[in-house]
Amino acid sequence: MSTEARDSIVLPPWARVTDRRLAHITRVTSLLDHWARELELSSDEARDWHDVGAWHDALRDADEAELRQWAGEPGWPVNVLHGPAAARRLEAEGESRPDVLEAIRWHTLGNPAWGRTGRALYMADFLEPGRPFARAEREFLARTLPGDFDGVFRQVVHLRLEWTLREGKPVFPETAALWNQLL
Ligand SMILES: [Fe+2]
Ligand SMILES: [Fe+2]
Repeated sequence: MSTEARDSIVLPPWARVTDRRLAHITRVTSLLDHWARELELSSDEARDWHDVGAWHDALRDADEAELRQWAGEPGWPVNVLHGPAAARRLEAEGESRPDVLEAIRWHTLGNPAWGRTGRALYMADFLEPGRPFARAEREFLARTLPGDFDGVFRQVVHLRLEWTLREGKPVFPETAALWNQLL
């Protein structure tokens, strides 16, 4: 990973991330920056994409008490609380871009109401090159994305849903609605 990419990640002062997590965050953000350039996004949208990459896992390594304090989702399992917790905390600190907040809030589960920013984060989180599985397939999808954003998104939602089912994890209504929207 380039020094430049790592330097461009500015975490909030309250972030709780290990070094390993920071490396993931940096890879996700680099991928989003790369796609933003390829897609020739406006500077505002490119900044949204960069910021959701940099902040999406800001509370990923926080303890359960802190996550529950911020997330405001009493019935949710702990592993999906870091998205809503970070979104709430960013909002409390004055972040007001709806696309940025919704992308971070739902990045683990998916949401059919997303625009491009939420979709791009959901894909970058899964396709970043540091994950050890299905490397060739994921690298292909990451490379294909600028020419086929919607096709790659459908594929990523499918792959993530397959994993959720295989692991016997619950499917949230928003995840199911996202899949149904793509049929
Ligand atoms: Fe996450
Ligand atoms: Fe992540």
